Amino acid sequence: MSDIVRVKGLHVTFSTFNGPVQAVRDVSLRLAAGEILGIVGESGCGKSVTVQAMMGLWPTAITTVEAAEHTVLGHDCRSFTESDWRSLRGTDIAMVFQDPMTALNPIVTIGKQLEEVIWLRQKRRRSDQKGSMTEGIAEEVIHLLRQVGIPEPERRRNQYPHELSGGMRQRVVIAMALAGKPKIILADEPTTALDVTTEAQILLLLQKLVREEGMGMIIISHNLRVIARLCDRVAVMYAGTVIEEGSIEAVLTSPAHPYLQGLLSSLPESATDGTLTAIEGQPPDSYHMPTGCAFHPRCHKAMRICARIAPTNSNVSDECSKRERVQHVRDHQQTRECPHQAACWLYRPEVK
Ligand SMILES: Nc1ncnc2c1ncn2[C@@H]1O[C@H](COP(=O)(O)OP(=O)(O)O)[C@@H](O)[C@H]1O
Ligand SMILES: [Mg+2]
Repeated sequence: MSDIVRVKGLHVTFSTFNGPVQAVRDVSLRLAAGEILGIVGESGCGKSVTVQAMMGLWPTAITTVEAAEHTVLGHDCRSFTESDWRSLRGTDIAMVFQDPMTALNPIVTIGKQLEEVIWLRQKRRRSDQKGSMTEGIAEEVIHLLRQVGIPEPERRRNQYPHELSGGMRQRVVIAMALAGKPKIILADEPTTALDVTTEAQILLLLQKLVREEGMGMIIISHNLRVIARLCDRVAVMYAGTVIEEGSIEAVLTSPAHPYLQGLLSSLPESATDGTLTAIEGQPPDSYHMPTGCAFHPRCHKAMRICARIAPTNSNVSDECSKRERVQHVRDHQQTRECPHQAACWLYRPEVK
């Protein structure tokens, strides 16, 4: 299986009244077909901007986006025009956002909204493949609603978004995403607005559908539990950059970066003796980024080099990397770099 999304050295800078803001710094990510990649990090660390930039969603007038490499489904996207992006997003890439109300049109029934996506897909694929327009849009709407677990789809399709509960609306948004038969799904905090029980149902549904349809999915969440439950791999972000990446198992059981170690030990379930620990200090202000590693002012393991030079990725442990590499190659039939990496000088003994 090859990568369907690949980005290397991504930088996103916003021009604001107060000067430039580097929202994303030197991010490299990849997604294989059939894989679920989680991006986790606290609010404002650059998760949404990273994924939006990867999919060509940015206000070009005020933003600079640079990447050494940027491919989506085999296309080199660095020279993409807005219309190239639009045609890719309309069919091969679908998005599920946090608030279903903004994704749905309040004055059109959910059935009609789904019909429109299916119709668009058929129109686009027909011009690509010169095949005949398939019939049965109404049947497909019912099938999609049933697939995402909406009861009585024949009746529900005539309802407007406001007639549905939050959970049902998010199911409709997922149905809309599936209606385009995409190869990639991007879900940006898809369950943050829902209660815990509905959240669990929606996450399981997304996972099941992605697995069944063999799609790749990038899911963003500030909640580590959501990511742990759903993903194959995870990228942890801090202050606009990825500080650790690897299989869920490796990253959550042997966290390497002091930030992630602190984050995990601040979770209530880690407090075995009843006391909660917290990472001291605050994430840096985007206008006044520290030099070197952005985490060094808060890091109790910081060394002299950390304040001077931003760390590059290091393989976290030889033993772990070897085992994971074998597994990864087996899963993806492809040679790759070690999947468990951290951007931390601690793992570069030669420079201490
Ligand atoms: N339109 C914008 N103009 C200026 N800065 C922005 C804009 N959107 C995002 N940013 C900056 O990018 C950072 C990352 O934002 P975002 O990716 O939305 O964070 P997250 O999704 O992790 O909560 C923010 O802290 C903010 O400084
Ligand atoms: Mg966000």
